[in-house]
Amino acid sequence: MEDALKSIFKRRSIRVFTREEVDKDTLTKLLQAAMAAPSASNNRPWEFVVITDQDLLKQLRSRLEYGKYNAPAAIAVLANYKVSKSATSFRFWVQDCSAATENILIAAAGLGLGTVWIGAYPKEDVTQTIAEILDIPQDVFPLSLIYVGYPAEDKPPRTQYEESRVHWQRYKTSV
Ligand SMILES: Cc1cc2nc3c(=O)[nH]c(=O)nc-3n(C[C@H](O)[C@H](O)[C@H](O)COP(=O)(O)O)c2cc1C
Repeated sequence: MEDALKSIFKRRSIRVFTREEVDKDTLTKLLQAAMAAPSASNNRPWEFVVITDQDLLKQLRSRLEYGKYNAPAAIAVLANYKVSKSATSFRFWVQDCSAATENILIAAAGLGLGTVWIGAYPKEDVTQTIAEILDIPQDVFPLSLIYVGYPAEDKPPRTQYEESRVHWQRYKTSV
């Protein structure tokens, strides 16, 4: 199967990790994949915080209700108006940062890593918690936190293709 499709189907949410660390070169590859994502008007409103510090990871784990996983690394994907080119394009920061997030997940799968996307925005308690722990200023918005590590659980590759969700040419109402 073609490499891109293979990685897309292989990407599953991994929530149990080995103790093996992820080296800086590998994390940098994931960030390169992130920044290759499409963005409205190529605005690239994103910034990233890479976390490998055990104490910070422990704080994240203990305070995020749906993010208590033992990964050796995490990447927070953020949007910052000040690094983006225009107000009009910044309106698309959620889509832009989601595209960057998904690129990280797919690249990681291709490299044999496991990841899970922890949703931050629009959950204010989660964005606030992440901002507090990582010293993120109030005008920089966390979209997601991605745990990264080597998988200690096996999940089969899959598509969840459902023909009934697809309309060819024009929308056809069923039932
Ligand atoms: C926007 C978003 C937010 C998510 N938030 C969480 C989360 O807080 N905790 C978690 O364990 N998984 C989270 N997930 C992962 C989903 O639960 C997961 O993608 C879904 O169950 C499908 O499984 P798969 O990723 O293995 O295909 C999130 C996924 C997305 C796209």
